[in-house]
Amino acid sequence: MKKTIASLLLAAALAVPAVAQIPYVPTPENIASREEFADMKLGIFLHWGIYSTFAQGEWYLQNAVPDRNEYAKAADAFYPHRFDAEKWVKAFKDAGAGYVTFTSRHHDGFSMWKSDQSAYNIVDATPYGRDVIAQLADACHAQDMRLHFYYSHIDWGRDDYPMGRTGKNVGKDVTKADYNHYLKFMNAQLTELLTRYGKIGAIWFDGVWDHDQDSVPFDWHLREQYDLIHNLQPACLVGNNHHGSIIPGEDIQIFERDLPGENTTGWVQNGTQVSVSHPLETCTTMNNMWGYKVVDQNYKSVEEILHLLIKTSGMGANLLLNIGPQPNGELPAIALERLKGVGEWMREYGESIYGTTAGDFKPAEGYAATRKGNKQYIHITDNALAGKSIELPVKGKVKLATEFASGAKVAFKQAKDNTLTLTIPEHAPVIDYIIVLQ
Ligand code: GLC
Repeated sequence: MKKTIASLLLAAALAVPAVAQIPYVPTPENIASREEFADMKLGIFLHWGIYSTFAQGEWYLQNAVPDRNEYAKAADAFYPHRFDAEKWVKAFKDAGAGYVTFTSRHHDGFSMWKSDQSAYNIVDATPYGRDVIAQLADACHAQDMRLHFYYSHIDWGRDDYPMGRTGKNVGKDVTKADYNHYLKFMNAQLTELLTRYGKIGAIWFDGVWDHDQDSVPFDWHLREQYDLIHNLQPACLVGNNHHGSIIPGEDIQIFERDLPGENTTGWVQNGTQVSVSHPLETCTTMNNMWGYKVVDQNYKSVEEILHLLIKTSGMGANLLLNIGPQPNGELPAIALERLKGVGEWMREYGESIYGTTAGDFKPAEGYAATRKGNKQYIHITDNALAGKSIELPVKGKVKLATEFASGAKVAFKQAKDNTLTLTIPEHAPVIDYIIVLQ
């Protein structure tokens, strides 16, 4: 019995490294930046690197290439002569996005800025020779767009990164694994990113799930990294796509291809709590792949994207919508066309999205609600509801219901327990029919 308790205690100690328990108190600037983040509601995710050259998505090295050194030759062919950071940022701005999350370094280990920590970077290893991140940072700062950096914990190229469950067949020398060495490298890179490119809105980590099948829990020293980031830029938000609950030191909670609280992907860790005190973000792809994939033309329509945005907003979360830029430096025309459509809608109806929090009830099939002050926006997104009545579990007394577009009054009934019955007019909805409750 004693032995069992001792081993249970040991297992618990290993599962939650002591350092993760140190309470984290965000600074006032950090709190302000969380609020700003939560109000923005729409961000653009970009997966761009030398993998784009193969046009097979960002996992191509792990999925198909038996030799990392052969893969690395793509760097010498990466020449994105049509890259125009100002044009990109303008397109995101016109779409109504408030921030861009850019892959500074993905799992293949290639750095998209001039890093002194590794010559495997955009300036030293490509004929293009220009710092992509510097250009993007300048364009973002000039156009008042927040810049976030995706940063991979995994590295399929370096021997010092201790191999997890991916990157096993790319020819790495496992005898050289040395996490302390790798950690120093990452921290030096993060320091570059946070000291050379002005104000950075967030660092978005990805890859700790690579070690989720280890027999002994892998200690990433996350808190050390989070503290480093906050010391360099106190307002910089820390997020980690670990598919679990908030770990002390994190400022936002990330969900991948799922709404907060859902687990359609099966990736969410058991027992994950959706935070009630941190901003939430759901990331998803515009087609099916993150990095540019030539055969994947299965893009969501403008309407589908907006319905996603309405749902995430109805959950009080942001939508981080991904685009995989082409190897020539252009955004796919179809992605640009979708951004344009999103922007047109946002200019007209953005009031019901920006700066809102979750509505009184969770998004349901065909409708969702967002809230701002004493107003609640009821978004009807399913044509099948036109002419029908819906019952909404709102939480307060409704004084007035109007059509967002025309301001015309909408009839409603409210029961003693506040349940609201709304009759959706026959002419509703197009993309989204909005009723404003006061
Ligand atoms: C997954 C993938 C990665 C992608 C990320 C975006 O973690 O490994 O390629 O960058 O999702 O959320």
